[in-house]
Amino acid sequence: MTRIFVLNGVNLGTLGTRRPEVYGTMTLDDIESLVRDEFPGLDLEFRQTDYEGEMVGLIREAADSDGLVINAGAWTHYSYALHDALEAADVPKVEVHLSNVHAREEWRRVSVISPAVHAVIAGLGAHGYVAAVRYVVESLDSPTA
Ligand code: DQA
Repeated sequence: MTRIFVLNGVNLGTLGTRRPEVYGTMTLDDIESLVRDEFPGLDLEFRQTDYEGEMVGLIREAADSDGLVINAGAWTHYSYALHDALEAADVPKVEVHLSNVHAREEWRRVSVISPAVHAVIAGLGAHGYVAAVRYVVESLDSPTA
């Protein structure tokens, strides 16, 4: 069975109540259900942590799977540790943001992890996770895609 990690970083456990006008009203559990319903045939490992070192460990675990999707939250903008962990993970990998980070504060326009992933999705809300998992599955089906 195809195994894909969906990793969520710092503060994403508070979705639903955290700035709903920016991030929507879905909780992370709601997003997980949406993704699971869309891909019933996948072995999805859906995880969230507020600890950067734990996220590095999860990325290493994901490196042994078929692919990964990551919303690194604020770490996106400054964590070279996550960049290096992602760079070392030789699987299809997608960075996701619920909000359109390019339409927000200047500092959110910078992602230090983008150079270490294959694709970036921002501003699609929860559907960004679905699109990201679909990309990973399709790139496994046709590696040159
Ligand atoms: C976010 C955008 C980040 O700038 C922010 O720090 C988050 C969420 C998003 O999903 O839009 O925590 O990654």
